[in-house]
Amino acid sequence: MKVAILTGGGDCPGMNAFIRSVTRSAINLKKEVEVWGVLDGWAGMIAGSYRQLDVLDTAGISRLGGTILGTLRAPEIKEQEEMRERVVNNFLEAGFDAFISCGGSGSLRAAHDLNRRLRARGEERQILFTSASIDNDVANTYGTSIGFYSAIERSMEMMEWIRDTASAHRRVYVVGSMGRNSAYLPVYAGLTTGAEYVIRPDEQVDYDRIVDMIEARDRDTRIIVSEGYPRTLDEITAILSTSLEKLHSAHEIRTVDMGYFQRGGMASVTDVLRANWIGHCMVQAAFAGEKSSFFGAFHIGATPNKVTFEEAIRPEATHEDIPRAIMEMMITLR
Ligand code: F6P
Repeated sequence: MKVAILTGGGDCPGMNAFIRSVTRSAINLKKEVEVWGVLDGWAGMIAGSYRQLDVLDTAGISRLGGTILGTLRAPEIKEQEEMRERVVNNFLEAGFDAFISCGGSGSLRAAHDLNRRLRARGEERQILFTSASIDNDVANTYGTSIGFYSAIERSMEMMEWIRDTASAHRRVYVVGSMGRNSAYLPVYAGLTTGAEYVIRPDEQVDYDRIVDMIEARDRDTRIIVSEGYPRTLDEITAILSTSLEKLHSAHEIRTVDMGYFQRGGMASVTDVLRANWIGHCMVQAAFAGEKSSFFGAFHIGATPNKVTFEEAIRPEATHEDIPRAIMEMMITLR
């Protein structure tokens, strides 16, 4: 039996723990198995580039950021029918029986498409997918994305560092956060570090209220701005500065973007545990001959949610905004 592993979309911490778990579970649970890593994510499926993995190839990588297999953006899969067909042809030519993959929403669609095309050709193979993205925006009603908690930890560190200067200089920092159109990463980063305000992607912002808050706080204000919010950090700064000048306020405003730094560094404990667990459960499911599906898990030890790809890509399967109770708590704790 040939098992392929693919890490796709934007890299994130926890992907290596996933690779390690899938590789070791497969090799240690079944004698006649070969594990193949697809190189550079979906670009590797287009190019047909893979390398065989052994237990020792995955030694010491659990907490390592990025992905040892690499992941290139491959927009041509979305754009070109020919590329989608090539992925299927390469898959069959490589003789893969099971495909255990993780990534963001684009990768989920690519896995869904591969599964559909295989079935249309009468080829019943197992395509299994779980979410790995700092954005936590892939079927998050069924589980938390691998990488999400690591990105919160990274953001928390950065927000604590910037607090020092904000406080010393009585400055306001307008801080950019990744997260695509989902509020999850910026809001949870704000929650864990007590940011004074988080602007969510779809929010109708009351800038006068923010100005009052800046004046009332006096020393340090950190405002996180979600990716997806239509104004740039500089535009927000200009709006706030104009109001503060009218009040003859002493507050200065600076901008900084956490951006790509949020994606790097060591995986958090929860991401490592969840990546191990879900990878292990996916291998067991593949060996048990279970159907192609999306796997989601909130915790290690809990039976993963397994749903069809059709269900996983439904907009209702993903909350983009934060549950009201959590927002209310955040506002209460300001
Ligand atoms: O999906 C993860 C993510 O980091 C998003 O938060 C961000 O919008 C995007 O990837 C950036 O993509 P790229 O690395 O291709 O610039």
